[in-house]
Amino acid sequence: MENRRPLIAGNWKMYKTCSEALETAGKLKDLVKDVTDADVMIAPPFTALSAVSDVVKGSCVSLGAQNLFWENEGAYTGEISAAMLLSAGCRYAIIGHSERRQHFGETDEAVNKKIKTAISSDLIPIFCLGETEAERESKDTFSVLDKQVTNGLKGFVTDELETLVIAYEPVWAIGTGKTATSGQAQEVHAFLRSWIEKNLGNMLAKSIRIVYGGSVKPGNIAELMNMPDVDGALVGGASLDAEIFSKIVRFDK
Ligand code: 13P
Repeated sequence: MENRRPLIAGNWKMYKTCSEALETAGKLKDLVKDVTDADVMIAPPFTALSAVSDVVKGSCVSLGAQNLFWENEGAYTGEISAAMLLSAGCRYAIIGHSERRQHFGETDEAVNKKIKTAISSDLIPIFCLGETEAERESKDTFSVLDKQVTNGLKGFVTDELETLVIAYEPVWAIGTGKTATSGQAQEVHAFLRSWIEKNLGNMLAKSIRIVYGGSVKPGNIAELMNMPDVDGALVGGASLDAEIFSKIVRFDK
């Protein structure tokens, strides 16, 4: 895995009220307080960010947002800017999650603008991509990923992407209990890393973190992390429980 520092990130999606989020974050902070060999991030709903930020401040748990909008401010009802996320304590922003693409019509072009905004605001973007089951079955996985990564990273130069994290999340593995095998994950991660090498250079290809998401659990994290191009995980369901998530953080059953 070269010298890439693992990132274990929890995407809480539309789960947890403010008080539930505080309770889980507080437990997690204690459970992972001795972890020094991985970055740990949680992305609660927007409504809980500020409160959770107070709880995890000074700990090894960082805060992330599940989305952002590319404008700084304005008449955009329901949207959240990078400056708002920074002021709520966020360091990371998940961008282009398949649920946003699927249910909210988020396009590659929107994803590209959001990554630009995150980077220019000093938020670490976690750029999500992945194929659907039908696309995998029709053997279109690599062409779909090529299009997503090409469009998502359009117009960037290498230096701007130093902090970028890519999350490979096969849509068919999200919330289904069907994890990609470690071999399937490795194959795609290696493809993405070689895309970076070809288009943005060898240095970035070596340093960029590519994490896997889709039914990650304590029982499969160690095998996934054994793969040379898997640098961490973006965890949905199993991140909602502090004990279970802390096991994933330790790559422990
Ligand atoms: P699950 O871990 O629930 O499959 O969700 C994965 C995911 O979408 C993380 O962003």
